[in-house]
Amino acid sequence: MHLLALLPVTLLQAPLVLAEPVNSSPFYNERRAIANSPSGNYAPAIVNCPAVKPSVRVAGSLASEETAWLQLRRKATLDPMIAFLKRVNIAGFDAESYVKKDQPNIALAVSGGGYRALMNGAGFLAAADSRTTGNTDQGISGLLQASTYLAGLSGGGWLVTSIFANNFSSVETLRNGRDGSSLWQFANSIFVGPKQKGISILNTASYWTDVAGQVERKDDAGFQTSLTDYWGRALSYQLIDAPDGGPAYTFSSIAQDDLFSKAQTPLPILVADGRAPNTKIVSLNATVYEFNPFEMGSWDPSIFGFVPTKYLASNFSGGVIPDGGRCVQGFDQAGYVAGTSSTLFNQFLLSNLSTVANVPEFVIKAITGLLKDLDEDNNDIAQYVPNPFLGWNNATNPSAHDIELDLVDGGEDLQNIPLHPLLQPIRKVDVIFAVDSSADTTFNWPNGTALRASYDRQFSSIANGTLFPPVPDASTFINLNLNSRPAFFGCDVKNFSLSGSQSAPPLVVYIPNAPYTAFSNVSTFDPSYTDAERNDIIRNGFDSATQGNGTLDAQWPTCVACAVLSRSLARTGTAVPSACADCFSRYCWNGTLDSVDKGPYKPTFKIRDGTTKAQSGASSSRMLSSILSFPLAVVAALLGGGLLLLA
Ligand SMILES: *[C@@H]1O[C@H](CO)[C@@H](O)[C@H](O)[C@H]1NC(C)=O
Ligand SMILES: *[C@@H]1O[C@H](CO)[C@@H](O)[C@H](O)[C@H]1NC(C)=O
Ligand SMILES: *[C@@H]1O[C@H](CO)[C@@H](O)[C@H](O)[C@H]1NC(C)=O
Ligand SMILES: *[C@@H]1O[C@H](CO)[C@@H](O)[C@H](O)[C@H]1NC(C)=O
Ligand SMILES: *[C@@H]1O[C@H](CO)[C@@H](O)[C@H](O)[C@H]1NC(C)=O
Ligand SMILES: *[C@@H]1O[C@H](CO)[C@@H](O)[C@H](O)[C@H]1NC(C)=O
Ligand SMILES: *[C@@H]1O[C@H](CO)[C@@H](O)[C@H](O)[C@H]1NC(C)=O
Ligand SMILES: *[C@@H]1O[C@H](CO)[C@@H](O)[C@H](O)[C@H]1NC(C)=O
Ligand SMILES: *[C@@H]1O[C@H](CO)[C@@H](O)[C@H](O)[C@H]1NC(C)=O
Ligand SMILES: *[C@@H]1O[C@H](CO)[C@@H](O)[C@H](O)[C@H]1NC(C)=O
Ligand SMILES: *[C@@H]1O[C@H](CO)[C@@H](O)[C@H](O)[C@H]1NC(C)=O
Repeated sequence: MHLLALLPVTLLQAPLVLAEPVNSSPFYNERRAIANSPSGNYAPAIVNCPAVKPSVRVAGSLASEETAWLQLRRKATLDPMIAFLKRVNIAGFDAESYVKKDQPNIALAVSGGGYRALMNGAGFLAAADSRTTGNTDQGISGLLQASTYLAGLSGGGWLVTSIFANNFSSVETLRNGRDGSSLWQFANSIFVGPKQKGISILNTASYWTDVAGQVERKDDAGFQTSLTDYWGRALSYQLIDAPDGGPAYTFSSIAQDDLFSKAQTPLPILVADGRAPNTKIVSLNATVYEFNPFEMGSWDPSIFGFVPTKYLASNFSGGVIPDGGRCVQGFDQAGYVAGTSSTLFNQFLLSNLSTVANVPEFVIKAITGLLKDLDEDNNDIAQYVPNPFLGWNNATNPSAHDIELDLVDGGEDLQNIPLHPLLQPIRKVDVIFAVDSSADTTFNWPNGTALRASYDRQFSSIANGTLFPPVPDASTFINLNLNSRPAFFGCDVKNFSLSGSQSAPPLVVYIPNAPYTAFSNVSTFDPSYTDAERNDIIRNGFDSATQGNGTLDAQWPTCVACAVLSRSLARTGTAVPSACADCFSRYCWNGTLDSVDKGPYKPTFKIRDGTTKAQSGASSSRMLSSILSFPLAVVAALLGGGLLLLA
């Protein structure tokens, strides 16, 4: 075939071509977590208590499982970190011998924002992942392999859940899906359900009948159900590549995964907020809970305790399971945990389901019936009954005397990036890559609100001394481009006034959602995306993470490496290499303010025009001319990269 004939076709249709499933590797079916719910279905089950009954532990230390796992993980991250640091080649700096003496501790955090956050976050992770086809030895490849923690919240939590519920599959694998699988098939809205063989009218009906049947099993087994169960079940069909959305997959089963238990993956963490009984408002002083494969609980002084995730819904009382109290497993279903972190979408389900054709009447009745006991304002809660922290920390725990613990979307306190677990001094994180897909502005772009919330929270007693770097007001974010390109916060450790044993908080590398090659600012409540739109937004996230494969800043990977090293250099009193000093002068916010509101924020493409939701009919001649005006190397990269992947 002539190259010229190939060029426009490949470039214009690249997303579509690449959307074709790479196709069922015979192993693909095995790329899942473990369906270990003892009931074999969605219902939790009462089990014999182990000889040493599960209990609540005081949050004064890390979980012993996490401590043991970290010993393996820190070792496993060393080689990828050395490989990355050597590749970016910081002049005059011997990265290998340096990190062997003092190894930085890297965390990644993916914000909420529905499918937008899932897709944009996915683009970042694809860039950070050395397994992504064509991504070895370039950009920020290997950062994922060098990271210790990966936190997700709401839509970002869907991403993290999907990766780990599918045996740490890469973004590329998840995106490509598999024949006959509904994994990441966002063109079929979550309300309509997956496309199956046969008549589509029946599909929506049978999908919702299945969902309702699974939730009913939980109810029949004597466990309280809520809208979050329906939402979490529906999500699972798109996130977990197993029949019927893997009803028996638990979040705690991740701890038993091959790759995770050998510390070949980061530690996944999901975040939700506590809502005090008889209140509606979730303010910045709400208790922040985390779920990880080992434990669920909170570092905040209000709770300051953790239970084994695997035993959620056991009869904890005063931190122990009293005589006659039962042990339960299978409550921590993966989709339910993802749904708990994203209860904002309960309302989305409630208000949209009745407008969808062929949803059986009994399903609508079941869902609206759930609201009879609660009032409408309570539809956004995930109910944890019995409350694992019943009678625990009575003096400060708002739900100490309630059999029910209510959890809500982790972003309801405005901390829409899951930074909280990563700011805990006990975890000793040095740098957080914070991918923000929040819709703060009129046109669904972030303006730093999530960071300001985490900054403000440190002044409340609930923060118990955790610190956060100073960040400016929204207008400054916009006017200084801090929300349209990466920005570092808290670069100078000497600018923190530390008392006693306090140490400086992690350096925050802010990676805001911005239009590099696509308008990735789709509405939070847009339920469906064609494969092309999905791929464009993932690629835009990739372009953000790599600064357009270096076209915007060839030094960007070096600057990422410098951010990784920053806290360590201060800790060991090592002089900052000049390449890093240059990076810090360009990416660190230096305290300057420009607080003038200059009207609506309407960014234009940072790199080039791309296909977008709004512009899917973009004329091919315009596309072609903008592509042809590209430097040859980029066209070559597009062709190569495009054929390989993420175009
Ligand atoms: C998980 O993935 C790893 C590496 O890709 C593979 O070796 C292992 O067999 C997989 N496990 C399961 C249960 O699919
Ligand atoms: C949290 O803040 C609200 C006001 O936003 C206040 O009414 C409440 O007492 C505070 N709670 C705690 C525990 O500080
Ligand atoms: C606050 O955190 C410290 C550890 O930094 C812990 O020892 C202390 O118990 C915490 N206080 C409360 C009230 O949780
Ligand atoms: C255990 O929890 C269940 C569900 O909340 C409750 O019905 C039961 O009474 C509890 N049993 C004990 C012994 O606390
Ligand atoms: C779907 O839900 C969203 C969020 O609750 C709401 O804004 C929108 O109007 C709903 N759409 C329909 C068709 O009901
Ligand atoms: C905490 O409150 C529960 C009642 O909700 C009570 O049974 C228990 O004794 C209290 N614990 C302490 C240590 O006061
Ligand atoms: C920033 O975002 C918040 C919502 O998170 C919004 O209320 C505020 O108006 C925005 N400000 C600017 C200047 O964009
Ligand atoms: C601080 O940053 C602003 C804009 O980002 C720049 O104009 C200014 O020169 C910088 N100040 C110093 C002292 O580097
Ligand atoms: C240094 O700290 C002060 C006080 O918290 C703060 O106002 C300023 O913005 C900080 N500077 C930077 C660059 O973070
Ligand atoms: C996306 O942002 C652009 C401006 O940057 C705006 O014109 C467009 O309307 C926005 N789209 C949505 C869905 O908000
Ligand atoms: C960067 O590389 C990726 C993967 O090869 C490709 O999909 C993307 O289009 C490239 N971006 C630019 C701006 O060339």
